[in-house]
Amino acid sequence: MIGTAQHWEKIHATKGDEVSWYQPTSTESARLIRACGLVPGASVLDVGAGASVLVDELLEAGYRPTLLEIAEAAFVRVKDRLGARAAEVRFILGDITETELPEAAYDLWHDRAVFHFLTEPGQREAYVRALKRALKPGGFVVLAGFALDGPTTCSGLPVCRYDAQGLAEQLGEGFELVESSRELHATPSGATQSFQYTRFRRL
Ligand SMILES: C[S@@+](CC[C@H](N)C(=O)[O-])C[C@H]1O[C@@H](n2cnc3c(N)ncnc32)[C@H](O)[C@@H]1O
Repeated sequence: MIGTAQHWEKIHATKGDEVSWYQPTSTESARLIRACGLVPGASVLDVGAGASVLVDELLEAGYRPTLLEIAEAAFVRVKDRLGARAAEVRFILGDITETELPEAAYDLWHDRAVFHFLTEPGQREAYVRALKRALKPGGFVVLAGFALDGPTTCSGLPVCRYDAQGLAEQLGEGFELVESSRELHATPSGATQSFQYTRFRRL
């Protein structure tokens, strides 16, 4: 069976912007990040960043982005696109459930469509441990994935679907659900996918 990293390397190397989750701008993520009111220079981690343009928008807003990603092929595409600006970004290649992140390092943790792939309780526990280690007290979490009426698979892999309350339960105590919203994402092939977005503040 093909491993997780190989699966994603192949997707990023062969599909480019034709992946179902592609967005020309990050719309709802960007809105929720703006709502956090971070100061310029704030440290933002995008987990499972892929080749998303969110990093371009974070740089534009004056934040310090770190991207964590399991597939190097995604980083190749981001670095190509950013050119010299790539020097302002930190890149961490690894699996979020296995990577030891620096302690209390980030003002904001962003994840669009990565947590939903964690179908095993042990993977989700490792993810939340990493989040609790790396996010500063008072920091924010913007977490998004397929909603309860969203697809049951993504990129050929099974996913867990959540509403806002379900995501709050996954994070557990110590996080305040500040707001939640839904987005109907139009894929490049013309399908529609229902996403649940949430914004939390760490207490
Ligand atoms: C559905 S895509 C979303 C990409 C990006 N967040 C966006 O919204 O455009 C999921 C991304 O997470 C990465 N990924 C999947 N599992 C991962 C894991 N366990 N750790 C880190 N990255 C992972 C994949 O390579 C892919 O880039």
